[in-house]
Amino acid sequence: MKKIIVAPSILAANLQNLKDDVLSVIQSGADWLHVDVMDGSFVPPITFGDNIVKTLRKFTDIFLDVHLMIENPKKHIKSFIEAGANLITIHKESFNSDDEIFETLNFIKSNNVKCGLSFKPNTPCEDIDKFLNMIDLVLVMSVEPGFGGQKFILNSLNKISYLKNQINILKSNCLIEVDGGVNKETAPLCIKEGANVLVAGTYVFNADNRKLAINSINHL
Ligand code: DX5
Ligand code: ZN
Repeated sequence: MKKIIVAPSILAANLQNLKDDVLSVIQSGADWLHVDVMDGSFVPPITFGDNIVKTLRKFTDIFLDVHLMIENPKKHIKSFIEAGANLITIHKESFNSDDEIFETLNFIKSNNVKCGLSFKPNTPCEDIDKFLNMIDLVLVMSVEPGFGGQKFILNSLNKISYLKNQINILKSNCLIEVDGGVNKETAPLCIKEGANVLVAGTYVFNADNRKLAINSINHL
């Protein structure tokens, strides 16, 4: 049985009770925690900054998967590293050139933090090819970034399959993460195409039984 990494997104957590809510999903079997950082410019909402990562780090040593949906990631990466991020994922669309992307990914790696690259649903996934042999993870957005609770875009499955094939050709260890609209119906489809990590916000945090919810998406 192939074990899938489940990363609940704290975007769907109850902020009034963040600590207990986070500890509850960890106890229910979460492997990573996904932190959606939005700046009100790259995407419409404003969510969390490095202070939330620092806060989470005070009470858990779980792997913190930080997804930067911001205009100027270069300016903020250092503070997320210092706050305790284990993985920092940047967006292709946040940059003007491939050189800048390479430079930023290398900066993350040089700090012994894992690096990821994501792309929006309308960005061709072939644009990611040239980065696959240097990144730890590619994040397929299966909804338009910005909001939790959206419907999974079915065409994302073709992208997972395409990237899996490219990764196999390169014999790379790059993981494939899927983000948006993941639930017990869409998770198996993603896993079949080669996904290794599933982000789930609404599905896990709103479940009556979080343990059952996680167990329903962490394997085929
Ligand atoms: C969307 C975020 C997602 C979101 C997923 O921009 O990147 O991580 O929280 O939420 P659900 O699982 O509710 O679709
Ligand atoms: Zn995300």
